[in-house]
Amino acid sequence: MPLPYGADALEPHIGSETIETHHGKHHAGYVKKTNAAIAGTPLADAALETIIQTAADEKDQKLFNQAAQVWNHGFYWHSLSPKPDKPDAALGAAIERDHGSVEALLTALSEQAIAHFGSGWVWLALRDGAIVIEATHDAATLATGPAVPLLVIDVWEHAYYLDRRNLRDAYVKAVTEKLLNWDFANRNFASAAAWTYPS
Ligand code: FE2
Repeated sequence: MPLPYGADALEPHIGSETIETHHGKHHAGYVKKTNAAIAGTPLADAALETIIQTAADEKDQKLFNQAAQVWNHGFYWHSLSPKPDKPDAALGAAIERDHGSVEALLTALSEQAIAHFGSGWVWLALRDGAIVIEATHDAATLATGPAVPLLVIDVWEHAYYLDRRNLRDAYVKAVTEKLLNWDFANRNFASAAAWTYPS
């Protein structure tokens, strides 16, 4: 998947070297290993979500890790934007209903992302009709449900170490305050009712 913006588009919050390494080495590495694992198997031409679900069902942790990381990173690139918008009326109303205000939600999202232990992902999601914050460890994903992902923040160290060294909080605050792609979240929220997971 190509980046939806240039490698330097998120500066000064996320540097181009970070994006080039993250997308060109880490994400590309997961794609390469997934493709190698499915080559010549019945999953060779399957949708990525089907590959993830099949790997989970068959307890193929090795394939699951690679394929889920492919999906998570694709979702992450689209969760960031050099020109962040705001929640639209529908999503804004749902956030106010469930969290009081957008500011309160962002504070909670930031706190969870900073506090998440080890590698993983912190998601804004829709679960049973409510706007929730969910955390997953390592490659674990919402790609196949049960919650519908709206946005995600990568909290693996490779997402910020070149820019921030060990200071995850500086990276998380920059993402939540300057880079979240609310237009993407708005579209995901609007289509959530019609969202179907692979069976
Ligand atoms: Fe990552």
